[in-house]
Amino acid sequence: MKHIKISDIEDMSKIYRLNLINSVTGYKSAHLIGSQTSKGNTNLAIFSSVVHLGSNPALIGFIIRPTTVPRHTYSNIKATGTFTLNAISKKQIADAHHTSAKYPENISEFDKTNLEIEKKNDWNAPYVKKAPIQMGCRYQNEYHINENDTIMIVASIEHLYISESLLLEDGWVQLDKGDIITINGLDGYAAPQLLERFPYARPKA
Ligand SMILES: Cc1cc2nc3c(=O)[nH]c(=O)nc-3n(C[C@H](O)[C@H](O)[C@H](O)COP(=O)(O)O)c2cc1C
Repeated sequence: MKHIKISDIEDMSKIYRLNLINSVTGYKSAHLIGSQTSKGNTNLAIFSSVVHLGSNPALIGFIIRPTTVPRHTYSNIKATGTFTLNAISKKQIADAHHTSAKYPENISEFDKTNLEIEKKNDWNAPYVKKAPIQMGCRYQNEYHINENDTIMIVASIEHLYISESLLLEDGWVQLDKGDIITINGLDGYAAPQLLERFPYARPKA
């Protein structure tokens, strides 16, 4: 096996290191975060850092890169307190990836892709039409990560919409039934397939 040491990582070119370190920790969740300015200009951006924080209360977290350049998702969430999380399905990957392009604040990624706005529940942020899972989230807190100047946002899930065919009787959501994709690194998109579901594990006698 190839052995890479911390000194090798430090000496790598920026792109090689970025690809390597973004891939090695495994497949990541894929979401489009919808938000809007206080004036109502919509914004959409892809994020691979959304994680489950807890189910009671229902909380999620995600990481915002250093705010040394404009981060519209962050400033919109600070302005409105709300955003949406939208799962990405196979057919949407090219457009979803394109939302990472740096457009000025007055240009909406919804106008530059085939992704469409869906407004519901008077939520102060746009959902992505046809996303198999949509969540209306409310900002709760943020934590500055000193080591790399990133910010972890903590938010509650206040509205949850799930395509009926994915939602099983016990509340479990079968993601592959919605062709929901996952992210490999920073620019690779993969489609996982469920292998098996196990009962709650108990110690062996
Ligand atoms: C696959 C992928 C995953 C990304 N994940 C994140 C992330 O977790 N956090 C982040 O701050 N930016 C992430 N980005 C970058 C944002 O999508 C990009 O900076 C985007 O322009 C942000 O838009 P905004 O300024 O409208 O918020 C990711 C980009 C790609 C292609």
